[in-house]
Amino acid sequence: MDHLIAPSILSADFANLQRDIEMINNSQADWFHVDIMDGMFVPNISFGFPVIKAIKKYATKPLDVHLMIVDPDRYLQTFKDAGADILTVHYEACPHLHRTIQAIKSLGMKAGVAINPHTSANLLSEIIQDIDLVCIMSVNPGFGGQKFIEKTYHKIIAISEMIRASKSKALIEIDGGVDMNNYKKLIDVGANVLVAGNTVFSSPTPSQTIADLKKI
Ligand code: DX5
Ligand code: ZN
Repeated sequence: MDHLIAPSILSADFANLQRDIEMINNSQADWFHVDIMDGMFVPNISFGFPVIKAIKKYATKPLDVHLMIVDPDRYLQTFKDAGADILTVHYEACPHLHRTIQAIKSLGMKAGVAINPHTSANLLSEIIQDIDLVCIMSVNPGFGGQKFIEKTYHKIIAISEMIRASKSKALIEIDGGVDMNNYKKLIDVGANVLVAGNTVFSSPTPSQTIADLKKI
């Protein structure tokens, strides 16, 4: 499949959010990546339901919502109601991950699991067939604009192999530090979805940068 680009709203200009949403609508981007941080699971707070609803009002592409929060089970229905199409929870935040995944899917959303840089790919072996997306964190979650962790490549290869062997349909998403220097190699080793915050929004021509990230 062709790879997908999911610009991260975390790096948008919140004072001009509608403008930045329209830019993504009119670009070659595929999804909106929406980062939710609670100041507990990660040392930062981003934004909550009113902002997701505001994005949903104007977005013409799916909302890929990445929850960096403790105990996400409390809010699955609320994220659905706010407009999430894909809902990703962290492996490290879910003691009953299988139950959480089933609950997300029963609400009619695609279900994703994110893993932190220190979390082994092997830990997904019992859940890989149940999920629609694996989000491999290529930075420690919490902030945009961080440096890509090089060890990510071997994790992409391991998860690609796991997906093939298990006949899972999960997509591999890479989140953090994706830029013009590494995006091709990420696709080469098996990435299906590239999240890009800083690379898109610090560009003088964001829409062109998205088009460039689509090129192989
Ligand atoms: C990090 C977030 C990322 C972030 C990526 O915790 O999950 O989605 O927005 O930003 P860049 O592309 O700037 O590393
Ligand atoms: Zn994210």
